[in-house]
Amino acid sequence: MILLDGKVTSASAKIRIISEVKALLASGKRPPHLCAILVGNDGASETYVSSKARNCEEVGFKSTLLRYPDSVSEEILLDKIREINEDSEIDGLIVQLPLPPHIQVQKVTETISPRKDVDGFHPINIGRMVQNQPCYLPATPLGILLMLEHYGIETSGKKCVVIGRSNIVGLPMSILLTRNNNPGNCTVTICHSKTKNIEEITRTADILIAAIGKPRFVKASMVKDGAVVIDVGITRESSTLTKSGYKLAGDVDFEQVAAKAAYISPVPGGVGLMTIVGLLQNTLRAAKGEVAFWNGELIS
Ligand code: GUN
Repeated sequence: MILLDGKVTSASAKIRIISEVKALLASGKRPPHLCAILVGNDGASETYVSSKARNCEEVGFKSTLLRYPDSVSEEILLDKIREINEDSEIDGLIVQLPLPPHIQVQKVTETISPRKDVDGFHPINIGRMVQNQPCYLPATPLGILLMLEHYGIETSGKKCVVIGRSNIVGLPMSILLTRNNNPGNCTVTICHSKTKNIEEITRTADILIAAIGKPRFVKASMVKDGAVVIDVGITRESSTLTKSGYKLAGDVDFEQVAAKAAYISPVPGGVGLMTIVGLLQNTLRAAKGEVAFWNGELIS
């Protein structure tokens, strides 16, 4: 079994990003700038946002965190997003999810300029992704593609099963691996909460991607011998053994499944680290203006 090590893969990707930032600076440009908006103080969101800021610093990006209380109105938030859309000093903008129930995620997503949408959540970026056009890819699926590439895992002609159909991971992942690209050209099946005989389907997978947020859901009996198993789950479980009072659990029962898999990603230390790389890569592309939008702007 080979471990799909997010530490190794993200470190090598970050070395590449650092050298691109140096080249940008040498050409007289300012460093890439990512802005994150955090509403409320959800523990997991705090952790993600501070990790994003730390990683920006590591690769030489500027990062700004804007905090709002849970009680912030939708209109104040949307106005701030519109202001950032026009701010030429900011390349990428993310609004950390989840948001409080009185704020509509769809409105927030569609207010962010597709040019600055480094989360790749805007319908224009999603639509372009589906059509294999230049766009920002959602960070977690992008991170998984980078991981498959790093380990030289062949995807063409392979049977891939994705468990989970979220807009952030499952759905885009299934599209990306279906596309006529490398990595890609898989035959993909998506399983979800209404899927019957899920084990029968997952056992056919050469590449199994678990993204449902149910700790240890994938058991050895669900996995084919020699499969590539990618665990996207990051659930916080309380623990008396750690200083923080919690530990992270993946969607895969690692101990059992590792004995059968050819490749497997751990949690923590796997896909989570690659999500950050996906976000950094998108922000760098935004700073370089690598994704062309008509007139430089699609939304008036
Ligand atoms: N919450 C959980 N994952 C993500 C992500 O990739 N982006 C944002 N903005 N929020 C999240």
